[in-house]
Amino acid sequence: MTLIKPSKRPTLSNYAADAWSDDSRYEGLNAIVQAIADGADQIEEKIRAATLADIIGTSGEVNVQGEIVQYLDTAASDTFVDVLSKSGRVAAIGSEEIEETVIVGDSLQHNLIVQMDPLDGSSNIDVAVSIGSIFGIWLRGDGEPATDDLLLKRGSQQVAAAYVVYGSSTVMVVAVENSVQGFTLDPEARQFILTHPDLRIPEKCSVYSANEGNFNKLDEATQKAFIELREKYSLRYVGSLVADFHRNLLKGGIFLYPGDPKSPEGKLRLQYEANPLGFIAEQAGGAAYSDKQRIMDIQPEHPHERTPLIIGNKDVVEQTMTIINKG
Ligand code: AHG
Ligand code: MN
Ligand code: MN
Repeated sequence: MTLIKPSKRPTLSNYAADAWSDDSRYEGLNAIVQAIADGADQIEEKIRAATLADIIGTSGEVNVQGEIVQYLDTAASDTFVDVLSKSGRVAAIGSEEIEETVIVGDSLQHNLIVQMDPLDGSSNIDVAVSIGSIFGIWLRGDGEPATDDLLLKRGSQQVAAAYVVYGSSTVMVVAVENSVQGFTLDPEARQFILTHPDLRIPEKCSVYSANEGNFNKLDEATQKAFIELREKYSLRYVGSLVADFHRNLLKGGIFLYPGDPKSPEGKLRLQYEANPLGFIAEQAGGAAYSDKQRIMDIQPEHPHERTPLIIGNKDVVEQTMTIINKG
């Protein structure tokens, strides 16, 4: 089969040059987004070839979350650190896979900060299920020293966020204030093409996504919220946050990973997962909360900290929050 070239649609580089180049708020963003696209292109090829190349397996290291780092987790982290460092615009990088802050440079040109989950959904790698990469992008303040503290900014200070989902197609979604654009990788030309312009979460919520296997561990109020969702919506749960979020963004839906009495902070990472996706959800008309407050208002105390996450259609997120808080 020959692919029909979507020649009339802009590539990511054309789109970025047009949309952001003359806007001083987005200085350097072009280079960062292009670097992410280049890294995603490399990782996508590795993922597709992983089984054949027999590179799946554990690296033997234990990462800061105490999980076994799979080979592709490390490869993705290294690749994105490399392309982002070479962009010339990044002062510091935080990665879920790296305990310490990666300080890249502190010239005036190094005006951006990136925090990332380089490979999300690792447990789905070796079963050919969708996985992804997630990026939050922050501006470095004028004269702000390039230290570890650069990673402790609130989500509301993000200037942009992006994710890539490696699924039946590879899609990169990029958001800046009030604008969410989706690009699909043309597997022949190896270019991202604008395929999902001006994304908004549909008004109607169709599904809820949660690990129902955790039901018995939840407190009573959260169980009540789950029961309400079961009554109203279909359940869809991939187990890769980025894939669950992408489906819900396109079709309408809510994702929740709450805390429980044993782990009140839940499982997901504030800076690498919740804040970037929270930013994207809000720009698309949705909402993102922890159990208590707007995700993007949380002041991080540690780059690797976790948070409960409820994200998706605004009305349903708010109703669910209310039940979780009142019981
Ligand atoms: P990661 O692979 O980056 O560690 O993230 C895994 C996360 C997330 O993608 C997903 O939503 C969640 O783990 C699934 O957790 P459960 O298996 O507990 O449902
Ligand atoms: Mn993850
Ligand atoms: Mn990860």
